[in-house]
Amino acid sequence: MKKQVLVTGGTGYIGSHTTVELIEAGYDVVIIDNLVNSRIEVLDGIEKITGVRPVFENFDLCNRQKLEEFCKKYPDIVAIIHFAALKAVGESVQMPLEYYHNNIESLINLLYVMRGYKIPNLVFSSSCTVYGQPDKLPVTEDAPIKKANSPYGNTKQISEEIIQDTIAAHQGLKAISLRYFNPIGAHISAEIGELPLGVPQNLVPFVTQSAYGIRETIRVFGNDYNTPDGTGIRDYINVVDLARAHVVAITRLIENRNKKDYEVFNLGTGNGLTVLEIIHSFEKATGIKLNYKIVERRPGDIDAVYADTSFANRELGWKALIPLEETLLSAWNWENNIRKKLG
Ligand code: NAD
Ligand code: WQD
Repeated sequence: MKKQVLVTGGTGYIGSHTTVELIEAGYDVVIIDNLVNSRIEVLDGIEKITGVRPVFENFDLCNRQKLEEFCKKYPDIVAIIHFAALKAVGESVQMPLEYYHNNIESLINLLYVMRGYKIPNLVFSSSCTVYGQPDKLPVTEDAPIKKANSPYGNTKQISEEIIQDTIAAHQGLKAISLRYFNPIGAHISAEIGELPLGVPQNLVPFVTQSAYGIRETIRVFGNDYNTPDGTGIRDYINVVDLARAHVVAITRLIENRNKKDYEVFNLGTGNGLTVLEIIHSFEKATGIKLNYKIVERRPGDIDAVYADTSFANRELGWKALIPLEETLLSAWNWENNIRKKLG
């Protein structure tokens, strides 16, 4: 019988790509999502790619009673991948309570039902934001956690601590936190991808929308950073590579191959790229000339962060493989496909 995995936030950007990889790896996926930042049509995309429509339950994970009812309805779930969260850094500064409530309450509810319904395995979506501006690059998993520079970032730090404390107190529960660097791109089929609401805050969705003509000139936030061309350096990882790491992590837990009850892995490529390198690689991959201008630094941005991936490579036997230009082309193909669909 197929093992059943609960994917929270499964109609979201990373959750949908992970659902595809889980199905293709032979898992039976059940999704919970309240569609606060995604569309129900994502299920059509998943079905087109895999031939399977995952079971979908629409409710808010902050509703503990609904979650209890869900657990009674699906007693065979052996593991949870928890993507559901609010994730807009700037918005979290404006609405801290909504962010703390949504991201922390939903996690606590999940941990309660894991304990109560004996669901032993959790993979949690964390972020490289927990490192702030690291003292040493590339950043390793044991680098110090710096004070978060947004309520969003703080929810990730607090969540990791809550998980760690819960695992320590309750034998039988195990978890892996995956700290993502900058996920970009889309499934090669262009059937699923990232669809930000309103003006994209992240670089690559802004680039694709600008190339499509929906947005004006790309603003490059600062060229006086301590980097070779002065623009910020990040570690951009293809979302499908990222999704595959989740399959590896959840399988490691299910098969009891984890070395500790709580483990943390960086998910990046290990390569740092500047904003201008991304812009020029996109131009090369697509043949489209982009309009951009250098503007002031964006408050809260750091000079550079990229991952030391050696621990994840070694322990998980996983590596990001998809080349950057292919990734940027996939983002562009998705932008074209979704705009056609949205009309
Ligand atoms: P996303 O917004 O596309 O997906 C999150 C999904 O969770 C959405 O479909 C949303 O509707 C759902 N959701 C939110 N709160 C919910 C609730 N209370 N109940 C039920 N559903 C709820 O975001 P994403 O980019 O796919 O990110 C997934 C996870 O990865 C998040 O935890 C995010 O913080 C983390 N992360 C994302 C990035 C990134 O750059 N995208 C980087 C690091 C970490
Ligand atoms: C990348 C680079 C910008 C937009 C954010 C969150 C982080 C994580 C990933 C969740 C930076 C520059 C951007 C633009 C630009 N998410 N930029 N013009 O800030 O590294 O990380 O997403 O956990 O927590 O903070 O990603 O894509 O916004 O920016 O010049 O219009 O592009 O200054 O150097 P960031 P990003």
